[in-house]
Amino acid sequence: MNNLEQLVADAAAEFASVTEPAKLEEAKARYLGKSGSLTELLKGLGKLSPEERKSAGAAINAAKEQVESALNARREALREAALQAQLAAEALDVTLPGRGQPTGGLHPVMRSLERVEQLFRSIGFEVADGPEIESDWHNFTALNTPDNHPARSMHDTFYLLDEAGKVREDVLLRTHTSPVQVRYMQAHVAKYGHLESMPEIRIIAPGRVYRVDSDATHSPMFHQVEGLWVGQEVSFADLKGVVADFLKNFFETDDLTVRFRPSFFPFTEPSAEIDVAFMSGPLKGRWLEIAGCGVVHPNVLRFGGIDPEKYTGFAFGMGPDRLTMLRYGINDLRLFFEGDLRFLSQFN
Ligand code: PHE
Repeated sequence: MNNLEQLVADAAAEFASVTEPAKLEEAKARYLGKSGSLTELLKGLGKLSPEERKSAGAAINAAKEQVESALNARREALREAALQAQLAAEALDVTLPGRGQPTGGLHPVMRSLERVEQLFRSIGFEVADGPEIESDWHNFTALNTPDNHPARSMHDTFYLLDEAGKVREDVLLRTHTSPVQVRYMQAHVAKYGHLESMPEIRIIAPGRVYRVDSDATHSPMFHQVEGLWVGQEVSFADLKGVVADFLKNFFETDDLTVRFRPSFFPFTEPSAEIDVAFMSGPLKGRWLEIAGCGVVHPNVLRFGGIDPEKYTGFAFGMGPDRLTMLRYGINDLRLFFEGDLRFLSQFN
C-alpha cells in the first residue's frame, strides 16, 4: 500500500470509529482542513517538477475525493442514526386506547353533609361555621366544661405548641363543633341586640373535629354536624320532632325508630344520646348511636350573651361519618380517609 492509499484507509477507519457529528468534523480537519495531511501534500506539489506535479497532483486529488466521499457517507450515516434514535424515543403508539378525562366526584361524607344541609335548610336552618384551631375558652369553658373535666385531658385532645416548643394553653384543635354554638350566639346578639324581638337562632354547623382516637370506628379527624335552635319556647319536644323527621328524610324511610337515651354533657341539661334502629334491612333491630343532644344549659346561653330566663334552646351534635356508613353499608371508617379511588369512585 503506498502512502496515499494508507492515508485514505486511515481516514476511512477514523471516520468510521467516531459516533458524534462534532468528532467527525474534527477528524475531517485532520485530513482536509487548512493544515490537514492531504492539504499539506497538495501544498508540497509546488516543489515538484511540472511532470511529477501532474501525476502526483492527480493521485492526491483522487485520494482527496475518496476521503471526501468517505466523510460524506459517514455524515449521512450519523444523521440517519440520530433520526432513528429520535423516532424511537418519541415513538407514539397510536393503537393505544385513549386516556380519557376523568371527572372528579364528591366524597361520600361530603355527599351526606350536602344532604344534611339541604334537609335542614328546608326547615329554616342556616349553615354556620367556626375555626378548627379553636380557643380553649370556646371549646370548653364557654360550654360549661370545668377545668378538671376528663375531656380536657391531653390524651383526648390535640394541643398546639408555641415557638419554644411548649404546649399552648389557650388554643387546641376543636374536639367537637359545639364551640360554634357560642360563637354564633355571640355574633347574633352583637348583630341584633338582646331584645324580645331578636330573631330565633336556627343553625347547623358541619365541620371537621379532632380527637386522639384511631380504630375501625374512630379516626383522629372526623366530622360532626352541630345543630342549635334557640328561641322563646324551644323545648326537648321540638328536638325530638326535628331529629326524628330529619332521620326519616335522610335515610328515605319511615321504617326506623329513634330512641333518646339519657346521658350527660356539661353543656346540655337534660342530655341524651340519639340512637336509631332500622326495622328492616341488614341492620334490622340494632340500636346505632348517631348523635348527642340536649337542652342548652343556662350557663352556655349566658356565655353566648343570651338571657336564659327569656330564651331556651336545644342542641345536638351528629356524626355524619356514621350516618354515611349506615346509609351505604360501610363497616370501616378508615376507608373514608385513605383516598383509595376504587372505594371513592363507587359513590359517583
Ligand atoms: N359535642 C358533643 C360531642 O361531641 C355532642 C353534643 C352536641 C351533645 C350538642 C349535646 C349537644 O360528643
